Amino acid sequence: MPDDSQPDGSNIIVRPARTVRGVVRIPGDKSISHRYAMLAAIAEGTSRFHNFSAARDCASTLDCVAKLGCEWKRLEDGAIEVQGAGMRLKAPSQLLDCGNSGSTMRMLSGILAGQPFSSELCGDQSLSRRPMARVIKPLSEMGAKISSSDGGRPPLKIHGGPLKAIHYKPEVASAQVKSCVLFAGLFAEGETVVDEPLRTRDHGEIALRVFGAEVESVGNASRIAGGQRLRAIEANVAGDLSSAAFFLCTAALFPGSQITLPGILMNPTRARLLDILIQMGLKVSVAHLEEHHGELVGTIEARGAAWKGAVIAGADTAALIDEIPVLAAAAPYSEDGLQVRDAKELRVKESDRIAAVVTNLRKMGAEVEERPDGLRVPGGQRLHGAEVDSFGDHRIAMAFAVAALRAEGETTILGAGAAGVSYPAFFEELETVAAR
Ligand code: S3P
Repeated sequence: MPDDSQPDGSNIIVRPARTVRGVVRIPGDKSISHRYAMLAAIAEGTSRFHNFSAARDCASTLDCVAKLGCEWKRLEDGAIEVQGAGMRLKAPSQLLDCGNSGSTMRMLSGILAGQPFSSELCGDQSLSRRPMARVIKPLSEMGAKISSSDGGRPPLKIHGGPLKAIHYKPEVASAQVKSCVLFAGLFAEGETVVDEPLRTRDHGEIALRVFGAEVESVGNASRIAGGQRLRAIEANVAGDLSSAAFFLCTAALFPGSQITLPGILMNPTRARLLDILIQMGLKVSVAHLEEHHGELVGTIEARGAAWKGAVIAGADTAALIDEIPVLAAAAPYSEDGLQVRDAKELRVKESDRIAAVVTNLRKMGAEVEERPDGLRVPGGQRLHGAEVDSFGDHRIAMAFAVAALRAEGETTILGAGAAGVSYPAFFEELETVAAR
């Protein structure tokens, strides 16, 4: 099976910049695109999505829904149409290949658990190492039969069938797990509740409502009654704030820089990033704030000024989990550095992101302290260009392109093609804003 996340000769050289300046149109949010594609599959009618994520991960989701009988196509204007099958999908005749995408595997499992057939989900080398017990446990409690590789790793064989509702308190705060259980709840008899230890992104709940389901959320708990049917929608996907993060961090590196990002997702469960960047000294303003399909969207204007330090811990770590690699890669250039705590989850992402960031920063000459659940990057450092590795991880590839812009000399990013897992045009866009 091709393994697109692995270093593949797609090395990229990033030269230092003097500043960054310009407008970047960020592709649609990956988290929302996955959920829209999956819910469109079990809705009645044909859904249409504008600015659907360009990520390879979301293409994996679309491939899986096609194998489950829901054809999709790209229209001339770039929109994606997905034909819904209603609650009953078609038994797949092939493996469901999730590629590099943990979101695809975890959330689709929730839907497959309620189907009257067996299916098998597999993934690339990186995904095959990632923990799936967190979805196997609740879905088994609901009545699905799931077998996995050693210790709850992919591939997953799911024997779906009638489900019963549960009241579930996950040990790890994970929006993927929450969406998985709520999606399964649609097929269960009774009311399913997910009560999380910390509040995570709520795109699953919002998307379910947009497709016509009733979902009640109070505090960190969300509940859904089984037996509800979904209706197709037409929606526009807001720009991905986690992809925007790379450009915001480039702006933070250069006093006097200016970056404009129109149409970015401003959902409060994701927007903690802006608070931290503002606290660290980036000048941020948001214009044209609107609500589309239950999600807040706005245009971000960012200007580089001072670049101070921050400590990220507890609920902030969970809220910033996808942005920590780039914040850490930019941190040596800050005045006071960055400390990240309570981030054990980073070790089981597409790569061990703590180890990856530490290894690459050291290659660029930075002092950095690795901790079991985080890291400490002192500020006031000068980095030099070096050969760094994406470790097959999209966010590591992009984070080090940001660090490279302020280094002395060129940086080579090995396996930079991994960026396509979430943002295929990233390096081209970065070149358009880097002034030299
Ligand atoms: C996501 C949730 C987070 C995040 C991932 C996308 C989602 O993962 O890191 O990139 O769309 O729900 P966890 O649910 O594992 O924390």
